[in-house]
Amino acid sequence: MMGAAPHNPGPALRVEGLVAGIGPLTILHGVSLEVGVNEVAVVLGANGAGKTTLLRAVAGLLTPREGRIQLFGDAIQGRAPHLVARAGLGHVPSGRELFPRLTVGDHLDLGGRLCAPPRRAELRDRLLAMFPVLAERLRQPAGTLSGGEQQMVAIARALMTDPRVLLLDEPSTGLAPKIVLSVFKTLSKLREHGVSVLLAEQSLTLGLSMADHAFVIDHGRIVLSGTAAEISSDRRVVDTYLGR
Ligand SMILES: Nc1ncnc2c1ncn2[C@@H]1O[C@H](COP(=O)(O)OP(=O)(O)OP(=O)(O)O)[C@@H](O)[C@H]1O
Ligand SMILES: [Mg+2]
Repeated sequence: MMGAAPHNPGPALRVEGLVAGIGPLTILHGVSLEVGVNEVAVVLGANGAGKTTLLRAVAGLLTPREGRIQLFGDAIQGRAPHLVARAGLGHVPSGRELFPRLTVGDHLDLGGRLCAPPRRAELRDRLLAMFPVLAERLRQPAGTLSGGEQQMVAIARALMTDPRVLLLDEPSTGLAPKIVLSVFKTLSKLREHGVSVLLAEQSLTLGLSMADHAFVIDHGRIVLSGTAAEISSDRRVVDTYLGR
């Protein structure tokens, strides 16, 4: 409500002691991190460090064995993915996971199913203004789009769930540097719309260019964290990357 500032609102997303894996294999060994309200945070790590596993566990696609995940103070660990989405968490998966024969418009409708019709229409209008290239291609099958356009569809589909926190798994994969820039530019717009972001990224320069805070993950553990400026000047980051 106007005027009544909430007392200690806390972070948008808080992950504490997250342990998760696949079958008998433990991949995340007690990961903790926070994303502040209206902040962009990045999880940096080399191939196989555990970034995708972390984002999937937060999105409810993988049930954590231990630990807590809070979205604006609400414990969401162990909930089914659609309930996590309904709680306000959007997920742009690794590799985009689009349906090649479905159109751009179909993808937006899929994302919008969780949200009430008036809000859905409002979100759709706002997204098409934000991604004019998608507005021009509403009836085009996703499989016929360029890589950058496909990434925008994946982001727009996640935004149609009306998230307050958006997880993005390496949106730069397979895109030319110029296209990456245009995708990343749209991410900085999200902040203006009150969406906090947790980005997983392999590229140090790219990840740090976007983020307020950075967490470096290695072998399923957060080994360094700090402001983007602190991390970019920390030589141990390079050691972590080159030491593999
Ligand atoms: N389905 C699976 N079965 C077995 N091992 C898996 C599976 N998925 C991931 N792993 C292992 O878990 C570890 C972390 O993988 P993850 O995909 O989370 O890494 P990542 O940081 O996202 O890597 P990349 O940058 O290549 O996407 C790796 O050692 C990987 O081999
Ligand atoms: Mg990955």
